[in-house]
Amino acid sequence: MNPYYSILTKAEDTGNLSAGEIKNLLDPPSSKEENELFKAADRVRQYYMGDEIWLRGIIEFSNKCSRNCIYCGLRAQNTKKWRYEMTVDEIVNTSKLIASLEIGTVVLQSGEYRSCPLEKLKTVIKRIKEIDLAITLSIGEYPRDIYRELKQAGADRFLLRHETADPDLYEELHPGYKIKDRINALKILKEEGYEVGCGFMVGLPGQTLDILAKDVLLCKDIEADMVGIGPFIPHPDTILKDEKQGDFQMTLRLLAAIRLVCRDVHLPATTAMATIDEFGREKAWQAGANVVMPTATPKPYRQAYELYPDKKCLEDSVEHCRGCLEMRILSVGRKVGIGQGGSYKKKKK
Ligand code: 5AD
Ligand code: SF4
Repeated sequence: MNPYYSILTKAEDTGNLSAGEIKNLLDPPSSKEENELFKAADRVRQYYMGDEIWLRGIIEFSNKCSRNCIYCGLRAQNTKKWRYEMTVDEIVNTSKLIASLEIGTVVLQSGEYRSCPLEKLKTVIKRIKEIDLAITLSIGEYPRDIYRELKQAGADRFLLRHETADPDLYEELHPGYKIKDRINALKILKEEGYEVGCGFMVGLPGQTLDILAKDVLLCKDIEADMVGIGPFIPHPDTILKDEKQGDFQMTLRLLAAIRLVCRDVHLPATTAMATIDEFGREKAWQAGANVVMPTATPKPYRQAYELYPDKKCLEDSVEHCRGCLEMRILSVGRKVGIGQGGSYKKKKK
């Protein structure tokens, strides 16, 4: 048998691959093999996750950030940025709008503060819990007691991308921070009872296939409930402004590899994928993805939440996106998930 297909069959049947085998999977000899990779991931997605595509409404409630990730437009040292923070009422009202559109999850995302705005977040979480919505936080690294208090207030899930599994590359991208602390934070979140999401960027300067294979294996090791990946997109206000953007097909192959190796995780077709390819979301849903996260952040805040430039759907209201996404979901023969769409881990083995 074509050696590519024997690895692909093993991946589809067992999900147990070595780093070397994942590397091979990410480097198909031709587009024929690449298509078979996507089809295998689509079958595994169908078996473990069914045909629903889950919507998560994101509220980027603040673009303040104390960190300096070298790729990001919101880095603290970017003084060109107008910094905002939505009020409790603005966040709760936007959550009500999300619920009224039959979207079952709100994701509260921000930059990472020097110290967590704990009391405000607890108030927001308690008020959102009066509506029937699952709450996902995406607010960065904090000590265990903060995570615990936010969980007790009613938060359900937590997204904390690991960004890259390679210790040296991690330190280059995040001066002063270490991957082991990031992984430890993910472990703590699990221990505190959150459903957790990790994830990484594809096409970072200095990233190799070896590193990407480690990224996939790390997602499995962490036993993540969700994995978010997207291409790196250079931001003009950063020192990486002249670097190449991540490759779309490689991002798609990584999605497929994560589906094959991690089996029952939630995998979003990310806005970054839609930004670099007109049909990025549809292609992602046909290569293993089963989630999409429309932005519900109101104007004028959403324009100022610029992690990377030219974000897709920036001018479209969440009401518009709800309709547009449903059409796109139906166009690939899938259906909109109704409800909260929590973790599928261990539902079906
Ligand atoms: N290109 C693509 N993704 C980026 N992120 C931050 N900056 C960029 C960029 N320039 C991603 C990071 C972060 C998430 C919120 O956005 O992975 O975790
Ligand atoms: Fe801040 Fe997140 Fe951007 Fe890093 S990626 S600078 S933590 S907003």
